[in-house]
Amino acid sequence: MTHPKIFISRLIPARGLDLIKEHFLPEAWTHEMPPTREELLEKVRGVDGLLCTLTEKVDAELMDAAGSQLKIISSMSVGVDHIDIAAATARGIPVGNTPGVLTDATADMAFALLLSAARRVMEGEKYIRAGKWKTWHPQLLLGADLVGSTLGIVGFGRIGQAVAKRAQGFDMRVIFHDPSAHAVHGAKPVDLDSLLHEADFVSLHVPLTPNTKHLVNADFLSKMKPNAILVNTARGGVVDQVALYNALKSNQIFAAALDVTDPEPLPMDNPLLTLENCLIVPHLGSASQRTRDLMSLLAAENLIAGLKGERLPNCVNPEVYSR
Ligand code: GLV
Repeated sequence: MTHPKIFISRLIPARGLDLIKEHFLPEAWTHEMPPTREELLEKVRGVDGLLCTLTEKVDAELMDAAGSQLKIISSMSVGVDHIDIAAATARGIPVGNTPGVLTDATADMAFALLLSAARRVMEGEKYIRAGKWKTWHPQLLLGADLVGSTLGIVGFGRIGQAVAKRAQGFDMRVIFHDPSAHAVHGAKPVDLDSLLHEADFVSLHVPLTPNTKHLVNADFLSKMKPNAILVNTARGGVVDQVALYNALKSNQIFAAALDVTDPEPLPMDNPLLTLENCLIVPHLGSASQRTRDLMSLLAAENLIAGLKGERLPNCVNPEVYSR
């Protein structure tokens, strides 16, 4: 295979793109907006390698549109809920992702959101711009302390653990729920109900799977404390947004801070955007220059390995190698 055909579906950082270009001649999508479904189906036709991001739905139809020569799907993301992994495995296609390098950036974002919601940073900012700042007031925009509060982490993988590590520095008590994880950074394992009853902050760090879809529903929210703040840097689909709107609107919980929504982008008429106690940012968890550079490099390394018929450095479906 001298000239494999490669499609890169977004303008990824130069670090990764240049590495690919040292080996191959890829075609890269350079528009700001991602390709439409039709454009993507057209662009993948006949490719040996696809480097995608979380904005592209990579399902069986797309894999079949690419053709049976497709050897590697490399996603510049740690989450792979946009890819039908079973369909890729059934076709013997390894899928690569980019774990590890975005752990700290995402944990930082969870903490940025947690602090912003606790101390009402965005409300204060809007207050000034609306011309409402007339005086210092002893009761203005009072928020919540971190010291001595309890942080409940749902999903205690790399990112959840990195959040726990940060919480130690703020003198928070940390509890977590994740039946498959071990306790680190002074965090205590608890069942989900105990976590919801005890936590002043609940931070979500589970992947989106059929089991975690709408994990945060009306029942989950009803078990949270009235002063509790929900932080989501995982995936929008983990939260039932109608239930969240109702809980925030009725002050059943104090606030929510979301890096992710369902769908993305969130339509401007979504009721969550009308709430003062809901802070939303546009999926920026891994959005630091260094992190995105490293993610592009890992995605490039996965792509190159797959095209060379080597084992991917980070493979989501290693069972393809034992077929
Ligand atoms: C970002 O959300 C990622 O999965 O990398």
